[in-house]
Amino acid sequence: MKIIKTKNYNEMSENAVNILINEISKKPDLVLGLPTGKTPRKFYKKLSKLCKKNKVDFSKIKTFNLDEYYPISKSDKKSFVYYMFKNFFNKININKSNISLLNGDFKDYKKECENYELKIKKSPIDLQFLGIGINGHIAFNEPGSDKNSKTRLTNLTKETIKKNSNLFNRKRFPKKGLTMGIKTIFSAKKIVLLASGKHKSKAIASMINGKISKGCPASFLRNHKNTIIILDKKAASLLDR
Ligand code: PGA
Repeated sequence: MKIIKTKNYNEMSENAVNILINEISKKPDLVLGLPTGKTPRKFYKKLSKLCKKNKVDFSKIKTFNLDEYYPISKSDKKSFVYYMFKNFFNKININKSNISLLNGDFKDYKKECENYELKIKKSPIDLQFLGIGINGHIAFNEPGSDKNSKTRLTNLTKETIKKNSNLFNRKRFPKKGLTMGIKTIFSAKKIVLLASGKHKSKAIASMINGKISKGCPASFLRNHKNTIIILDKKAASLLDR
């Protein structure tokens, strides 16, 4: 696991952008795994700006998003579909048929998860970007998630629901989510995890220095061959020098 410590949120985002641009220059039809949340906002903003200036080309890129609430309609402003189109997909030259998102509106969620796994098997993810929860979750793989888990329906923890609803003026949120499993995430050739802010420092310390266990799902990444962690100063504040 490689750790990159940066000065601040802007520099963390810049580093992530540079990694992606470098990978796209080597493989223009890269398959990309994407997160939502507060952390990647600047990353998406910077990429959108670069795309507008023709400095990066997404026309051949395929994407898979990590997770979605369940149940939720696509038009719901709280949904990750809404987030992705608003913050990224509507601003870049991606071919819309190359976008894959979990459908939180589909009654047969088991089928939806199976289909997503099959789709990923057919187009394996080259580069997976990730955030981390304050409880060490990755995507909606909350503490207790198995390292062999695949795409499935999960129960969200109270703290995840609370944190997400705070972002939306405490609106009610679904208590479940559809998520790529830990094994699904692990199948990516390269993984880049981003974390910014003091509130992430405990999760980062336990991911890097704690036991590799279900208690901190992000700790499983220590066994992945090609993972980069990009931190800002505050997120790295509980790590040894
Ligand atoms: P955040 O979410 O970027 O909004 O902090 C990260 C996560 O919960 O995975």
